[in-house]
Amino acid sequence: MKRKLITSALPYVNNIPHLGNLIQMLSADVFARFCRSRGYETMYVCGTDEYGTATETRAIEMKKTPRELCDYYYGEHTKIYDWFHINFDKFGRTSNEECTEITQMLFKDLDAKGFIKEHTNSQLFCPHCNMFLADRFVYGTCPKCGSTKARGDQCDDCGSLLDPVELKEPKCATCGSTPVVKETKHLYIDLPSISSNLDSWMKKASIEGRWSDNAINITKAWIRDGLNERAITRDLKWGIPVPKEGYENKVFYVWFNAPIGYISITKQLADELIQKSKPSFDWKSWWIPSESKEAEGKDEVELFQFIGKDNIPFHTVIFPCTLLGSNHDWTKLYHMSSTEYLNYESGKFSKSRGVGVFGTDAIETGIKADAWRFYIFYNRPEKQDYQFTWKDFREKYNGELIGNLGNLINRTLLFVTKYYDSKIPEAPVDEELWSKIREHESKITEYLEWADLKDAFHEIFAISDIGNKAFQDGEPWKTRTENPEAAAKLIHNLCYMIKDLMILAHPYMPQFTETILSYFGKKINEPKYGEASVADGLCWKDIGCTEGLSSVENPSVFFTPLDQKTADAFKEKFSGSQKAREEKNNKNSKKEKKSSEKAVPVLAENQADFFNKNIELIAAKIVKIENNPDSDKLYVETLDDGSGTERIIQSGLRPYLKSEELLGKTIVLAANLAPRKMRGIESRGMLLAADYKDASGADKVEPLDVSWAKPGTKIILAGSDVNAVKPQEISADDFFKVQIKVVNKTAEISGVKLLADGKEITTVHAVNSEVN
Ligand code: MF3
Ligand code: ZN
Repeated sequence: MKRKLITSALPYVNNIPHLGNLIQMLSADVFARFCRSRGYETMYVCGTDEYGTATETRAIEMKKTPRELCDYYYGEHTKIYDWFHINFDKFGRTSNEECTEITQMLFKDLDAKGFIKEHTNSQLFCPHCNMFLADRFVYGTCPKCGSTKARGDQCDDCGSLLDPVELKEPKCATCGSTPVVKETKHLYIDLPSISSNLDSWMKKASIEGRWSDNAINITKAWIRDGLNERAITRDLKWGIPVPKEGYENKVFYVWFNAPIGYISITKQLADELIQKSKPSFDWKSWWIPSESKEAEGKDEVELFQFIGKDNIPFHTVIFPCTLLGSNHDWTKLYHMSSTEYLNYESGKFSKSRGVGVFGTDAIETGIKADAWRFYIFYNRPEKQDYQFTWKDFREKYNGELIGNLGNLINRTLLFVTKYYDSKIPEAPVDEELWSKIREHESKITEYLEWADLKDAFHEIFAISDIGNKAFQDGEPWKTRTENPEAAAKLIHNLCYMIKDLMILAHPYMPQFTETILSYFGKKINEPKYGEASVADGLCWKDIGCTEGLSSVENPSVFFTPLDQKTADAFKEKFSGSQKAREEKNNKNSKKEKKSSEKAVPVLAENQADFFNKNIELIAAKIVKIENNPDSDKLYVETLDDGSGTERIIQSGLRPYLKSEELLGKTIVLAANLAPRKMRGIESRGMLLAADYKDASGADKVEPLDVSWAKPGTKIILAGSDVNAVKPQEISADDFFKVQIKVVNKTAEISGVKLLADGKEITTVHAVNSEVN
């Protein structure tokens, strides 16, 4: 029995993952759960990919340090994966010390063996931003295929990996200026010298490990075209320091250290267990078994990697070269499971453009995690791209999951409770039925051994189809009285079949199957690495067993059908980009907010408390009002905020209010909101307004009015300290963590009223609504 080491591509940490990203983690999860159930010693590691330009730039944009940004998103990612019940042995981070340690160790190895080269080269430098533009921060025309959407490091249209200076008509992605070429020194990994080693390894490994076709083809093409030296250093701050003189201001390229994350996250788990004084293990027993005492006498390790096709060369060429070039016998890729793309409705899922269903959206729909898991595996894009549509989701979910598998379970279990007093009737094994079932069951095991997740999943539904036919043909509702033995035999055998189906489907739909098994009084035994087994728990070896069930307790329906109206509503809701969605949802100044900010709609746990500590609201008088010439929605308002100096803000109120309606009003100002440039003009704060609909149903906006208060008056929550000190500046994210509402025409936060000079703030038109 080989040991199974399982990884899924480490997700970038600077955004929320969408369904297309989740496939990798979910796939590895299914495989890991299968391996554990099967009794293999299993280790599934994953974690966030944190370094690089994208994170650094995003942090600047959000006025956070990269570390803060990563901490935040690490938490968001964790929440999403927990919700989907992804059972990592460890979900770590690449920004931990273990990753630094192992990356530097591998680098020193490569350097010592002469595989690191130094070159002075020309690099794109943006004079406007005053920085060297690494990989993603340049775009332009692809020199290979002519696509005008190529990024500095890669062209998504033809798949070529690029060097930014190769781009035609390069532009700085941050400011749009044309960068200039400047000289700087960088370190390179000498892939050409490792190439022949790679070639012989790859030829053997790809066959032994049955790599996906796309992985084999892409890798062969790479080797055939000849490998080039590749730069492994970058001019950034947020990254792993390069342990070499002269490189103090540079860090390793994120793609050099990211795959090393698989190793370092394993070590992170080992180190954590030591700290918690738990039985720990030697990470080398998984990654360099020949150098680990613990691995002596143990079985070989097989490394299964789950990635999307855009990551193939990093996993089959570059990372293996890093490992081959060092003087250790590293565990290398065994089976490559690289999927094609999951597309969304009419286009691509896109993080940068915010198109599709994101992890947070999936949670918000109220559709169960296992229903999403079902859809993803039923349609896993293995040989070609697959297109997610809400119509398809509804058809497959209602038709196959509920109509086939769910139906078999419900009708059988209800029959037991209704006609057999919840006791599974005693009866002989139906050998004819079981010979068919066993055939499918062994196919499922065979498929799963090679992580053929979709084929195995379809077999499960083939079994349940057999069950439904047997129920239909057996007509137990008739035979129950006419031929009780036949009815008992059918129901008895179907119960065992359901038990099998639940063990088989457990890796795919863990919550659903555990719930169904609980009606039989059963549990699953699928311990994570180092954890104890569940006593009497069922696992793979119990498949095919026709003993041990006795009764069915209080079964109920797990999945409820998705109706057309709801599916249409989701389609509408998640249509277009996140940005467009935001414009649909927000009818006032929140509208011009960046989509990136909208992507993190997390409310503070204690709203009132968070408000008191962070948000500064004051009264301010509008003394002048003009249109922003570059926008048809924005007003530029000059305020008297009581400080003696004028303050300029902008608000997207032009579609709703005439300037006369605003001039001279004393409004409520979010005063410590970080300044933001909108359409060329800086806005230093935001006025608060309530949404409402007029008699005809049209969207309207009513600014909160505090005409009695002097400009500069602090607006506080009833009962709190008017002199409380607030931060100088808070992010928009933090601001929107608090929901200010109008309830019965009075402004409040979580039931506590807002006061200006001791007086409640009331509205004229808005009755119950949100304030933005
Ligand atoms: N973060 C990368 C992406 O989302 C994947 C990194 S995989 C690893 O495309 F191998 F580098 F870890
Ligand atoms: Zn620039």
